Amino acid sequence: MDKYLIRGGKRLYGDFFVQGAKNAVLPLFAASILTKDKVVISNCPALLDVANMANILESLGATVVREGNLVEINPKDADKIEIPCSLAKELRSSIFLLGSILGRRKCAKIAYPGGCDIGLRPIDIHLKGLETLNVDIKDQNGYIYCDATKIRGGNVVLDYPSVGATENVMMAAVTAQGVTTINNAAREPEIFELQQFLNAMGAKIKGAGSSLITIQGVESLHGAEYKTMPDRIVAGTMLICAAMCGGSVTVCNCNSKHLQALASKLQQSSCKLSIFNDKIELASKGKLFAIESIETQPYPGFPTDLQAPIMAMQAISCGTSIITENIFETRFKHVPELIKMGAKIKVSGRSAFVRGVPRLVGTGLVAEDLRGGACLVLAGLKAEGTTTISNINHIDRGYEDWEQQLTALGADISREKQ
Ligand code: UD1
Repeated sequence: MDKYLIRGGKRLYGDFFVQGAKNAVLPLFAASILTKDKVVISNCPALLDVANMANILESLGATVVREGNLVEINPKDADKIEIPCSLAKELRSSIFLLGSILGRRKCAKIAYPGGCDIGLRPIDIHLKGLETLNVDIKDQNGYIYCDATKIRGGNVVLDYPSVGATENVMMAAVTAQGVTTINNAAREPEIFELQQFLNAMGAKIKGAGSSLITIQGVESLHGAEYKTMPDRIVAGTMLICAAMCGGSVTVCNCNSKHLQALASKLQQSSCKLSIFNDKIELASKGKLFAIESIETQPYPGFPTDLQAPIMAMQAISCGTSIITENIFETRFKHVPELIKMGAKIKVSGRSAFVRGVPRLVGTGLVAEDLRGGACLVLAGLKAEGTTTISNINHIDRGYEDWEQQLTALGADISREKQ
């Protein structure tokens, strides 16, 4: 396993190019087995999670070939109905395959999903949605057995706008007879992306991006070519990073509409933003005002995936900030690490009270999850002295060639063997 070695205190200048979105491309991979034809996905980030998903597709019988950021999936023989437990454990997104395996084979056996250890991550909403479509579900010895031979359209009402459940129901419903409606659907851009991809394959879906999605079942889907949207979380992480380090950075190849909740918070902190459709320029002196209150919410609210990165920023901002995590209950594992660097943070229930300090000091840190790991990188880049971060395989799950791009902006960060 590798670790990061960071010598902090450098200002950042230049252009940062945002990769394709991990959280969009994983459901696209899952959806690819809804056809027997070839699917080509461009702008696909080269990340551990994406490689794990490719392994899962191959275990089902598909072939997956990558050339740079172009991935060709041939799902002709992806007829297995079971994901090996060892692969499912690696990746929470394996749960989306439940919807797509059901769409293809009308039956599935799947182990409970893995992923970041950031809370309970139950799947009851997924299962309830599928049951509304007349899928018979049995839970036995850590496996979920589903029979969808009698699947048909239905009126699904989600108890919570879960991203994963919305995607799963869309994939199961796309070839089910009749009309399916998803009420209280998640409105994340990744849902819209899945709709566009499925429609490019011949599906009839409308409404994604709003709380009501309507799916008119079709007989079958065909192959498609599709370009993955930019990663809004990577773009957001870099905006926060540039605000903290100071300097002037242009985050290119992003969709600024997806970053509005973050941009409005950053504007409260004294940095200057120039927002264009596909890029955001940020200039910062590195001396920031604390943002009084930040609460994570489903989209278009402040994303849970930027909660940890923005906490690093609040740790060195002038004043006090209250950060409330409403989506996942144990998503504060970065807090003890920030405290080791001199941050003043108290956690009470779902809220972290952050009293900004003038400086953080570099030390040895451990990444416990993906976005918490990114938070530590930002803190290390800002801190005085040297920071080492171990277990960066977590960070590799979501940030492509990060240290190269940061180095090009002037950061002093390198990857070492642990
Ligand atoms: C969540 C984020 C998504 C982010 C992704 C990766 C939200 C709403 N979703 O998506 O933006 O990209 O993590 O970090 O911010 N839940 C249940 N039962 C279920 C499903 C979910 O209780 O069956 C609860 C979860 O415990 C959680 C909330 O609903 O508290 C949101 O879950 P969901 O949107 O499904 O999570 P992800 O799809 O992982």
